[in-house]
Amino acid sequence: MCIPLVLLLWLLSIPFFINAAIPQPKGFLLNCGGPEFIIAENGLNFIPDHGYISVGNITSVKKPDVLPLLKTLRFFPDTASRKYCYTFPVIKGRKFLIRTTYYYGDFDGKKEPPVFDQIIEGTRWTIVNTTEDYANGLSSYYEIIVTAHRKSLSVCLARNENTVSCPFISALEVIYLKKSLYSSTDFDKYGLSMVARASFGSDEDIISYPDDAFNRDWQPFMDGNVAEKSHSNISTSGFWNIPPAKAFATAITASQAQTLTVKWPPFPLPDSIYYVAFYFQESRSPGVSVYSMEWPLKGQVEIVMNPREDMDVGPLINAGEIFQILPLGGRTVTRDVKAMEKLAKSLKNLPPDWNGDPCLPKQHSWTGVTCSEEKNTRIISLNLTSFGISGTLPKDIANLTAISSLWLGGNKLSGTIPDMSSLKALKSLHLEDNKLEGSIPQSLGVVPKLQEVFLQNNNLTGSIPNNLANKKEINLQVSGNNLSYGKE
Ligand SMILES: *[C@@H]1O[C@H](CO)[C@@H](O)[C@H](O)[C@H]1NC(C)=O
Ligand SMILES: *[C@@H]1O[C@H](CO)[C@@H](O)[C@H](O)[C@H]1NC(C)=O
Ligand SMILES: *[C@@H]1O[C@H](CO)[C@@H](O)[C@H](O)[C@H]1NC(C)=O
Ligand SMILES: *[C@@H]1O[C@H](CO)[C@@H](O)[C@H](O)[C@H]1NC(C)=O
Ligand SMILES: *[C@@H]1O[C@H](CO)[C@@H](O)[C@H](O)[C@H]1NC(C)=O
Ligand SMILES: *[C@@H]1O[C@H](CO)[C@@H](O)[C@H](O)[C@H]1NC(C)=O
Ligand SMILES: *[C@@H]1O[C@H](CO)[C@@H](O)[C@H](O)[C@H]1NC(C)=O
Repeated sequence: MCIPLVLLLWLLSIPFFINAAIPQPKGFLLNCGGPEFIIAENGLNFIPDHGYISVGNITSVKKPDVLPLLKTLRFFPDTASRKYCYTFPVIKGRKFLIRTTYYYGDFDGKKEPPVFDQIIEGTRWTIVNTTEDYANGLSSYYEIIVTAHRKSLSVCLARNENTVSCPFISALEVIYLKKSLYSSTDFDKYGLSMVARASFGSDEDIISYPDDAFNRDWQPFMDGNVAEKSHSNISTSGFWNIPPAKAFATAITASQAQTLTVKWPPFPLPDSIYYVAFYFQESRSPGVSVYSMEWPLKGQVEIVMNPREDMDVGPLINAGEIFQILPLGGRTVTRDVKAMEKLAKSLKNLPPDWNGDPCLPKQHSWTGVTCSEEKNTRIISLNLTSFGISGTLPKDIANLTAISSLWLGGNKLSGTIPDMSSLKALKSLHLEDNKLEGSIPQSLGVVPKLQEVFLQNNNLTGSIPNNLANKKEINLQVSGNNLSYGKE
């Protein structure tokens, strides 16, 4: 049984060697739930996803004749988690194409594809509803272009508030894009969520890698207009958005002096602002022109091209892309994010949703974390009372300068209490019923707003700092430790 399998793999990799001149796109190509790396039909290598996510269960689709990439998947049955996140180490400031692929395949035997949400960093991106594609025997994919604002980039799934179904995912791609691509958009404030991308006048296969260096899919599109094939050689590497040269091999056109009307995309659009790019090859000269803009659109879109009166050829269009311009939902301030990441590293047995943005989207903050509602989102409270967490408190906790209550009582925390003198907003500190040791830091006495300090039932030693003991109107609980009450 083993030999044909190996042989098959070897056979499959032949086209890959032929394509070796076009490098695999830089980034992360994940075969979700997969045990080992696979080579997709277009020669791209996909690796297993377990290095980028720590939650979820894996399974495979039982149907025969399913593409290897769609065969395995990861699903998320844990209903207590507010989100399920993949995290990627990336270069800050770079632009990425993120593509999520879903093939339900009745993996759970419920005969009904789940409906759920997708989240990028702190922004709810879209709802995932694969019902129609699945009924037609197809997989579904979603694509968005975003810039990384930190050294990590998170892609999360979450339960939708109107459904009870369990999120799943088949494949995830995070691909570095050249800076020049889609550069008219302000990626500090917006993402581009793909609506349609087409190669006009084509009835052939989808164009993707290796024709498209970034593995973008260009769907064939034909309508009642004249489809034309072109045999001229063009290089598109210098063009805005770097469309694949193959997309210029076909076009939709009209005869001389006639208006060309193309109804595309072939479905109505919801009322929104869109980024639209059209790609044309000048029929008589070897150049390509790109026309791109931002436009409010709604309903069925018609592209109408009127030829100039003196032109002896009809209008022509080769390819098009349309994206919804998605306002980003904000981010937690980096200082707080870094401190929380440090905290997450030094604590064990944390809630599984401690990944992605700690505060956003609002309904999907980390369990136990409460945040401010202002534009610069800050962490204002942390409550993991009796969560069974262990580990130590890092000194970076002192960077959560907006926090007013820190409740970590009833756990198995060990180590010492770090310096918290910078926590100017801290009113309530609960560290009771843990295994903390060492002395009570002097610095607690200078936290200006502190009203409640619960440290009972730990293993603290030494004496109570005078500045803390003498603080007015403070509720200080220290019983059940090994404190000495002599003079300091
Ligand atoms: C998911 O995995 C967990 C831990 O391995 C297991 O306890 C649970 O039964 C699994 N759930 C499903 C629905 O397979
Ligand atoms: C999912 O899509 C199907 C088919 O388009 C639709 O009937 C259904 O209402 C959608 N489900 C949700 C929760 O939006
Ligand atoms: C296209 O370019 C290739 C390589 O540059 C060349 O071999 C071929 O003859 C060209 N074809 C046409 C139709 O110009
Ligand atoms: C916390 O703040 C200090 C001083 O500003 C800084 O050196 C340290 O790197 C910060 N910690 C984290 C995890 O960002
Ligand atoms: C923290 O959580 C515990 C247990 O759920 C609850 O009793 C307590 O009131 C919470 N504290 C704050 C400040 O919300
Ligand atoms: C408390 O600390 C002492 C000295 O470090 C140690 O011997 C003891 O086991 C600790 N007790 C608990 C309950 O952790
Ligand atoms: C307190 O210290 C004494 C003597 O050093 C030790 O025997 C005892 O176990 C300690 N108590 C706790 C709760 O660790």
